[in-house]
Amino acid sequence: MARVALVTGGTRGIGAGICKALMAQGRTVVASYAGNDAAAQAFAAETGCKVYKFDAADFAACEEAVKRIEAEVGPIEILVNNAGITRDATLRRMTREMWDAVINTNLGSCFNLCKLTWDGMNARKFGRIVNISSVNGLAGQFGQVNYSAAKAGMIGFTKALAQEGARNGITVNAVAPGYIDTDMVRAVAPDVLEKIIARIPVGRLGTVEEIARCVAFLTADEASFITGTTLSANGGQYMA
Ligand code: CAA
Repeated sequence: MARVALVTGGTRGIGAGICKALMAQGRTVVASYAGNDAAAQAFAAETGCKVYKFDAADFAACEEAVKRIEAEVGPIEILVNNAGITRDATLRRMTREMWDAVINTNLGSCFNLCKLTWDGMNARKFGRIVNISSVNGLAGQFGQVNYSAAKAGMIGFTKALAQEGARNGITVNAVAPGYIDTDMVRAVAPDVLEKIIARIPVGRLGTVEEIARCVAFLTADEASFITGTTLSANGGQYMA
């Protein structure tokens, strides 16, 4: 039986690329999304991937969704916590709502979905979890105290949970993408983005395929000795 993979925020951007890469590896992939029905339907039609709409920041919604996915598709053995948002502003202008939204969606969702799939992974003695962090969680970024904190938090979360899962065949790793050509990055003002690209040694934005490849590598059954690590793919922008 093909292993079931859940990719949060899997219908667009990096998440959609991850779904395609995991499908190419023979996984049964389901993608979650929070809001954009049109994009999700187009993605489902293109890939044949099942899509589930729920807010990954909402524990009760995740609980209901995990139950439904496991009943309809099978036990989740591979989890990719990719769902993420930005609410960029300097601290002076950042509101408490902007802070909460980013922490709850980017970091809270990792707790929710790991918590809800953890017992099953432990019982089956197999699991692959990849948390999609960011270069900005490693290096910090002007205008992103919320996002940088959430993405750095995901790395600490990864290192702690990796220790808890190690004896039971569960690996927990993070991928830290740099600036990738997605809607999220294209939302940055063009003059600001131009300055950011000028600081990337490779000289361009990354592609979703270049990130998906890292996730496929870390979720392979054979990647059983790699846990608690953060794999950077950022064109040389930050060498941790
Ligand atoms: N370092 C130091 N100073 C900086 C700076 C930096 N990196 N960037 C801007 N400043 C300065 C500006 O020069 C300006 O100074 P002056 O007033 O003296 O000219 C001051 O700070 C205010 O800057 P802005 O005009 O940019 O302020 P703003 O309020 O209009 O915009 C912002 C703030 C929205 C945060 C904008 O700076 C911005 O978009 N920054 C980029 C944020 C970013 O990289 N987001 C990534 C999103 S994609 C993503 O996150 C995916 C991923 O994982 C990589």
